[in-house]
Amino acid sequence: MSSFRLTRTLPVDATGADLRADVRQGLGHNPKSLPPKWFYDARGSELFEEITRLPEYYPTRAEREILHDRAGEIAAACGARTLVELGSGSSEKTRILLDALPGLHSYLPVDVSESALTLAAGALLAERPSLSVHALIADFTRGLALPDTPGPRLVAFLGGTLGNLLPGERNVFLKSVRSLLRADDCLLLGTDLVKDEATLVAAYDDAAGVTATFNKNVLNVLNRELDADFDPDDFAHVARWDREHEWIEMRLRARSALTVKVRELDLAVTFEKDEELRTEVSAKFREQGVREELGAAGMELSHWWTDRAGRFALSLSIMA
Ligand code: AVJ
Repeated sequence: MSSFRLTRTLPVDATGADLRADVRQGLGHNPKSLPPKWFYDARGSELFEEITRLPEYYPTRAEREILHDRAGEIAAACGARTLVELGSGSSEKTRILLDALPGLHSYLPVDVSESALTLAAGALLAERPSLSVHALIADFTRGLALPDTPGPRLVAFLGGTLGNLLPGERNVFLKSVRSLLRADDCLLLGTDLVKDEATLVAAYDDAAGVTATFNKNVLNVLNRELDADFDPDDFAHVARWDREHEWIEMRLRARSALTVKVRELDLAVTFEKDEELRTEVSAKFREQGVREELGAAGMELSHWWTDRAGRFALSLSIMA
């Protein structure tokens, strides 16, 4: 029989407290920044789904191609009975994995977006009535506790979301993933790859302006959750390739000098004309770097697959 459970691993209020701390910290310091996880309210999750269908945004299609081509190999290398998906979003690509894992007992999607989790789980359960789905509303960067389900576990972290973390944060995060895993458990990691600047910038600054709307949505989140008075039209969307760090940065640039009130925090934030607020880092990787970062967290890369155009990679590590 199918079963569905939704568990909040944090108190209902934790997200609010977290947002306040991040906004105080991020808008109170120079240069200004906000963590990208605050994009993903219901509207932001929808906008991201729209991004994945844009002609310029290749990562989703490239990763789906690899999953489609390699699902059998992944299943053969890791006969998982539990699939844990970090940052599951719509779970759309996950279906390919689920279909390739016949012995699967439990699917544990983990996401900060409750709306994305509920939607995705509903659709999945209709298709896979024998699957036990236990959705976790959680911020996976803050340490995770997983329910006790049958092993081996396959932890999938797809989409290139690892790139949203800074190098030091990635090391902390990968070590915390390692600590969840036992012998024969696996990590399947999706990473976008370094490529020419024009392709990268276009993927984060599409002609239809969907990514600009997604970027500015974080201001709507602050307006609603913290009673702020941002006017998204006061800001321009900026996507820039940082060739030294090999990451894309999304920023919001103030079109004029302005002051924004964040009433819930008793905060007045001033922007100079052309001052930029960093809203996202999306790091791009090379095979050697991924191998080293996994190694530094106590994991060994055992398979490396790219799409035919070499834009995106999936790697698999099997725990010793
Ligand atoms: C969901 C984090 C993988 O970094 O490419 C898409 C988010 N930002 N367009 C990415 C995103 C702008 C995306 N990840």
